[in-house]
Amino acid sequence: MEFRKWSESDRLELFQLEKDIFSDSWSLYAIDESMGCPAFVGYSLIDNGEIIGYYGFYAIMPEGHIANIAVVEKYRGKNLGFALLSHLIQMGDEREITDYTLEVRAGNVPALNLYKRLGFQQEGLRKKYYGDGEDAVIMWRRKK
Ligand SMILES: CC(C)(COP(=O)(O)OP(=O)(O)OC[C@H]1O[C@@H](n2cnc3c(N)ncnc32)[C@H](O)[C@@H]1OP(=O)(O)O)[C@@H](O)C(=O)NCCC(=O)NCCS
Repeated sequence: MEFRKWSESDRLELFQLEKDIFSDSWSLYAIDESMGCPAFVGYSLIDNGEIIGYYGFYAIMPEGHIANIAVVEKYRGKNLGFALLSHLIQMGDEREITDYTLEVRAGNVPALNLYKRLGFQQEGLRKKYYGDGEDAVIMWRRKK
């Protein structure tokens, strides 16, 4: 298994995974736009040539805005989400990011637990943030 920076040759595979995993998935346009943004940092976790997980964040100094993180369903529960988020924080720390933030569906218990395990705390709630009316929990991981 290895981490690989997002590249143009990954865009269709990432787009397919987004559609498989998220109801409000990124469009191909959003993926292309992110890859073209200098502040964007995106990595995939590769196993046997296939993307089995990925993340993306915007390094807006000194903040890291996490845009997405996901593990392909059949690989979940094997600490890969933890590995991805740890790698993200490592990449951010190397860019002197001190504080990380994200929003997550209030009912997404696996993700909420993953973030808490890596030091994120809830700092806000956006009521009915998502298109289907679910609330968004705003989390931060701040350097002490
Ligand atoms: C959230 C997600 C990335 C976690 O990935 P994963 O590889 O399954 O997680 P890990 O095996 O690394 O688990 C790490 C921690 O996450 C939490 N967690 C993971 N799966 C969980 C579950 N089914 N129920 C409760 N907590 C869970 C636990 O705290 C776990 O630590 P522990 O094993 O010490 O208890 C994965 O469920 C996923 O891709 N979900 C769909 C996409 C998504 O919702 N992304 C987040 C958008 S904000």
